[in-house]
Amino acid sequence: MADFLKQTWYMIGWAGELDDGVLARTITDTPVVAFRDTAGIVHAIHDRCPHRFAPLSKGIRKGDAIMCHYHGLTFDGAGTCVDNPLGGPVPAACRVASYPAVEQDGMLWVWLGDPALADPALIVRFPWLNDEGLRSIQGYTRVDANYELLTDNLMDLTHAKFLHPGFGGDAYSPHNTMEAGRDTVLSKYVVIDIDNPEFPENAWSSHGNKVDLWDDIQWYAPATLSLSSGVVLTGRPREEGCEIPAAHVITPESAGRSHYFWGSALPKDSPLSNDGFREVLSQAFDAEDKPMIEAAQQRMGEADFWELGPVLLGTDAPAVRVRRILREMIGNEKKSQAASAEMSAA
Ligand code: FES
Ligand SMILES: [Fe+2]
Repeated sequence: MADFLKQTWYMIGWAGELDDGVLARTITDTPVVAFRDTAGIVHAIHDRCPHRFAPLSKGIRKGDAIMCHYHGLTFDGAGTCVDNPLGGPVPAACRVASYPAVEQDGMLWVWLGDPALADPALIVRFPWLNDEGLRSIQGYTRVDANYELLTDNLMDLTHAKFLHPGFGGDAYSPHNTMEAGRDTVLSKYVVIDIDNPEFPENAWSSHGNKVDLWDDIQWYAPATLSLSSGVVLTGRPREEGCEIPAAHVITPESAGRSHYFWGSALPKDSPLSNDGFREVLSQAFDAEDKPMIEAAQQRMGEADFWELGPVLLGTDAPAVRVRRILREMIGNEKKSQAASAEMSAA
């Protein structure tokens, strides 16, 4: 049984994935189904009918509720059974858990912890996803690996030199610095005075001049990463170049499987089409990162990362800091849970 942060928002999907229907995803081993009511408000409830345990996500949305497709019990967004088409009274136990849900910046978030603590202001904002001056795209990759391996991958971009030829390949030898707060880490990468690599060149032509590249990666617990990447002519201020923001949100499905949501945006006048942009990112995340991280997970099996005694390089500092902060947060949660259990037992 893996340890997850409980009192936190988890991204369940992109708003566009919900459309008019239902969206089912397991989050930290809990099956959840999200759906919109007739007013367009998103709800999230436990995805298991209390009768014979059919997934409600296999049901049919009826008005403001979902009807179980097995025997027709119908549940609203509060998890209340609002109809028993077979007749007779509805037992009081006939209800499912409902979870606070928020739609923001084109993303859907759920809170599986104590509902009293579910403050939407805690959700990391990505307003540029809806910026009319930009063209944004979104993607989803399911990865058979622990979510912290995906965070490691994003906090340490030195792998781009070996794994991502289009993002820099051999020329990507960055200088890395880190700024760590109490519960956040910023990992910064800069590459100075190189020929523009394939992807940034397609997104923003350097017209044969040398460029500087930057990647600023800000991590928020448990696994939400806000990136600013960009390219500018060597020595010039960033404002003169092309910034490509990105959101990478990783939601643990279970100990060994993760939902990886990625979104990014180009300036409207970029020569790279949205289809071309999606292809580049999918190549990097689906075809390059995913198989490598899954293969590493396979080699690790179910062993704990630290128990395997990983060799640590200087470039691992941001990823290690993130892992330590997260462990501490999860440990603190457990301590306060144990303390309140003790108090209520006394
Ligand atoms: S399993 Fe849902 S109504 Fe029977
Ligand atoms: Fe990568």
